[in-house]
Amino acid sequence: MSDGRKLGILVLHGPNLNLLGTREVAVYGHTRLEEINRALEARAEAHGVRMEIVQSNHEGELIDAIHRARDWAHGIIINPAAYTHTSVALRDALAAVGLPAVEVHLSNVHAREPFRHRSLTAPVVWGQIVGFGPLGYLLALDALVDRLTKHAT
Ligand code: DQA
Repeated sequence: MSDGRKLGILVLHGPNLNLLGTREVAVYGHTRLEEINRALEARAEAHGVRMEIVQSNHEGELIDAIHRARDWAHGIIINPAAYTHTSVALRDALAAVGLPAVEVHLSNVHAREPFRHRSLTAPVVWGQIVGFGPLGYLLALDALVDRLTKHAT
């Protein structure tokens, strides 16, 4: 895992999040994924963290990125989007690599349709940040950096 000097954090965006800014703006707002990623990269640089960001609409690609993270990352930030509610495979991948992960949702999924109230991934992540919009990703990064710098990596 990693070069032993720099913390590595993988950021994963699930299906349809590439459409942020134009997609259901009443729910997800006007911020584009590119803006979220730029803010994350700036914060990662300030923390001295190596960050890789992956967006995919394909379950297997997200799983492959989680597997690869074993070789270089110390933590994961993931918005599994709709796969949150359906994907045993994504949950198993997170459990298999065992890296501390923070699950982020832009919207407050608990205030929405009942099918969004259940997360298959929540039991295998360190914590969840829900309903804070794009800020949630930055809070997740700060939380992971705090944890990873306090615990030996
Ligand atoms: C989401 C919530 C999910 O229920 C939904 O399928 C998404 C986005 C969020 O960030 O609020 O695509 O993960």
